[in-house]
Amino acid sequence: MTQRVAVLAGDGIGPEVTAAAVRVLHAALPACTFVAAPVGAAAIASHGTPLPDETLAVARASAAILFGAVGGPGFDDAPPERRPEAAILGLRATFGLYANLRPARAFAGLEHRSPLRPELVRGMDCAIVRELTGGLYFGPKSLERDAAGALTATDTLIYRDFEIERIARFAFDLARTRRRRVTSVDKANVLMSSQLWRRIVTDVAREYPDVALDHLLVDNAAMQLVRDPREFDVIVTENMFGDILSDEAAMITGTIGTAPSASLNGPPGARGFGLYEPISGTAPDIAGRNIANPGAAILSAALLARFSLGDDDVAWRIEHAVAEALALGPRTADLDDTNPASTEAFASAVIARLGSPVPSDAALRCGV
Ligand code: IPM
Ligand code: MG
Repeated sequence: MTQRVAVLAGDGIGPEVTAAAVRVLHAALPACTFVAAPVGAAAIASHGTPLPDETLAVARASAAILFGAVGGPGFDDAPPERRPEAAILGLRATFGLYANLRPARAFAGLEHRSPLRPELVRGMDCAIVRELTGGLYFGPKSLERDAAGALTATDTLIYRDFEIERIARFAFDLARTRRRRVTSVDKANVLMSSQLWRRIVTDVAREYPDVALDHLLVDNAAMQLVRDPREFDVIVTENMFGDILSDEAAMITGTIGTAPSASLNGPPGARGFGLYEPISGTAPDIAGRNIANPGAAILSAALLARFSLGDDDVAWRIEHAVAEALALGPRTADLDDTNPASTEAFASAVIARLGSPVPSDAALRCGV
């Protein structure tokens, strides 16, 4: 069956890493077809808006979106809805992509690249589940003068019970496919929204007696992640905390260049529409030079195969090929200071390994 994937490459390193991921997915799954559409600063330049209607139409007619990155210089003073980032926020809201899965796994052979000591990182395998359509990102915002004449900016942190409940369920369902541990992260000692968060996550946990739950305040969670990252299995948290902790967890693995993500609108086991993107962003300092690590984009394509195309086998093959290519090298410049591979060369190395047998031992597999 032909399966159509919308390719929204965007800005910065987005186009080059997405092109690499398309090559790999096409090699692994020739029945896939790809339709490109503009987003972000590129779309502002060509269409005057970060998320053109035609891009939304392409996305609606596809099984999934393979997304690159959005952002660019020159928008610092633009209102949020005119910035390139409005494209990704608009896609998350339009498609109700409330569940953002961000695996952070230390690949074998890369431990020495971690800013932590290798023995702290070896075997790290956690999955951050970030709530993606609520909280500060989507609450009402304003910039106005108050009665005393002070220029006043407001962002509103809102969570409704059902929004917390569905992301908690997602995390517990995911934990059942892993090591059956959920750490819920909040700031319940200060925030009302976090008090509700903690109460609802605790309620949902009663339906999952086989999964262990603990709660951490976000400042402590940031500390525990660098103290002992292997402690964590599934971390579930609200939108803003998840944005921050997922970058921290990715860097602990040695590079943010191998950190993929899936943004979904249903449970982890249900095959459905999703958006798949590296968590790293545009990396403007290295854009356009064919040196960015396409690992995150390629691993995002694997998640696309798993969650939107329902092809777990292709997902495993891609993930295993990336793990092998990373272990054996050559690696891109974020991981190799002396003789780095180009973006394209790394993608070719992954494609060359797509045929290697995937170990049947689940412990040797990667992914989620
Ligand atoms: C991410 C990014 C986005 C976010 C930006 C580009 C709006 O940092 O996906 O982590 O904050 O969600
Ligand atoms: Mg981020």
